[in-house]
Amino acid sequence: MTSQYIGNPAIGSPTGNYTGKAPAVWPAKVNQIPKEVFGDKSLFEDELKNIFYGDCWHVVGHFAEIPNAGDFKTFDLGRVPLLIARGKDNQVRVFYNTCTHRGNQLEVATSGNRKEFECPYHRWLFSLDGALAACPGSKEFAPDFKQENFGLMEVKSAQFMGIIFVTMGKNTPPLTEWLGDVVPPTLSTLLGGDGRLKLLGYQKVRYDSNWKGYNDNDGYHAPMLHTAFRLLNWQGGTTGFQRMTKNGHVVFEAELKAIQNNGFVNDPSLVEFKGSDPAKGSRIVQLFPATVMVKHLDIINLRFAMARSHDVTEVHYAYFAHEDDDEAMVQHRIRQSSNLLGPCGMISMEDAAIFQRIHIGNQTPGFAEFQKGVTSLSEVPMDVKQNDETGNLPRWEHYRKVMGFKREGEK
Ligand code: FES
Ligand SMILES: [Fe+2]
Repeated sequence: MTSQYIGNPAIGSPTGNYTGKAPAVWPAKVNQIPKEVFGDKSLFEDELKNIFYGDCWHVVGHFAEIPNAGDFKTFDLGRVPLLIARGKDNQVRVFYNTCTHRGNQLEVATSGNRKEFECPYHRWLFSLDGALAACPGSKEFAPDFKQENFGLMEVKSAQFMGIIFVTMGKNTPPLTEWLGDVVPPTLSTLLGGDGRLKLLGYQKVRYDSNWKGYNDNDGYHAPMLHTAFRLLNWQGGTTGFQRMTKNGHVVFEAELKAIQNNGFVNDPSLVEFKGSDPAKGSRIVQLFPATVMVKHLDIINLRFAMARSHDVTEVHYAYFAHEDDDEAMVQHRIRQSSNLLGPCGMISMEDAAIFQRIHIGNQTPGFAEFQKGVTSLSEVPMDVKQNDETGNLPRWEHYRKVMGFKREGEK
C-alpha cells in the first residue's frame, strides 16, 4: 500500500539518491511529522544508506547471548548479514556473514555454537577468529591466491557493558562520544550496574510497521492504552523524567509505585520488585536509530530491532538475569519477563496492535502530531516529563537532519 499524497517537491530534498516523493514538505512546526515518511518504499533505500549503513552505531547484541567460545548469533543490519562470534581467545568479533570465496551466506542459524564456520558450497573452513583455515583444491587456485588474505571480513565494533555495537560508516564518532553523558548513567542501572548479565531467552516478532513508528514510544499512552495498567490501578508514579540528546537518544526514568493487591492478579508476586538495585522504577534507554532497552521492575529487556523494509520491523526481545542472581531470583525474573513485557506481555500486549494500526493509519495525507508536553512549536525540547510524548522530537529532528530534509522556510 502506498500513499497517494503528493506534496510540493520544490521544498526540501534529501541528500542521497532518493527519487521518491516523501516528504515533499517537512513542516516548520517541530511537533509535526509528515505521514509520508512511514509509507514510502523508496525512502527506505535512503534510510539504509544514510542511517543503517551510515555514521551511526547500531546495537546488535549483548555478550551474555554468546557467553562461551564458539557461541555465535546472526543479525541483519538493513540488508547486510552479520555474524557475531566469540573466539577461543574469548574475544567477541563481528564479521560480515559471507564466505570470502564467492559470497555465500556463511551461517543461517540465528544462534548456536560451532567449532569453526564451514561454508557448504565449496567447504571453505573459517576458524572462530575469522581466519581461513582450509580451502579444498587450493593448489589449482589463481596464481595470486594467498590463504591468509581470505579471512572473514570484520565489521567495526565496540562495546558498552557488554552491549555490542557496530558501524559501517566512515566518519562515525567514537562510541563514548556517540553515547554522550546523558545515556551511560541510566544505561548502567538498566544493565544491573555492571552489564554482567545472563541470557534468559527471547521473544521474536515481526511487526507490520515501519521502524520509525515502532520507535515512537511515549509515557503518555501507558495508562490510556494498556488495560492491565488500569486494572492494576498502576499509574506509573508522578516523578521521573525524559532526557534527550542531540543525536536522537532518549533516557527515561520513572518511579513505579508497588501495586496494591486489588485481586486482578491471583499471585501479586508476579508484579513485585524483588531486586536490590537502586532502580526501583522504570528505566528506558532508546538509542538512535532503532534500539530500545528496558528495565521494568525486575525485568531486563534489550530489544534488537531489524528494519526489514519500509513496512516490516522484526524485533528480538532478549531477556536477562544478572550473573549474581540466585536461583529464586532467576525464576522470578523469568516469570515476570514472560508475563509482563514484550509482544504478548500482560502490561504491554496492546503495543503490537498499535504499531500495525499506526502504520495503516499513516498511509493517509497529512501529519502525525505530537501534543503532550509541547511548549514550543519552533524549539525541540531536550528535557521533558516522564509522561510526555515530546521525548520523541529530538530523534525526529536528528532523523530529518541525517536524511537531509529541509524544514519549510529553511534555506
Ligand atoms: S562460496 Fe563459500 S566455499 Fe565457495
Ligand atoms: Fe506501551
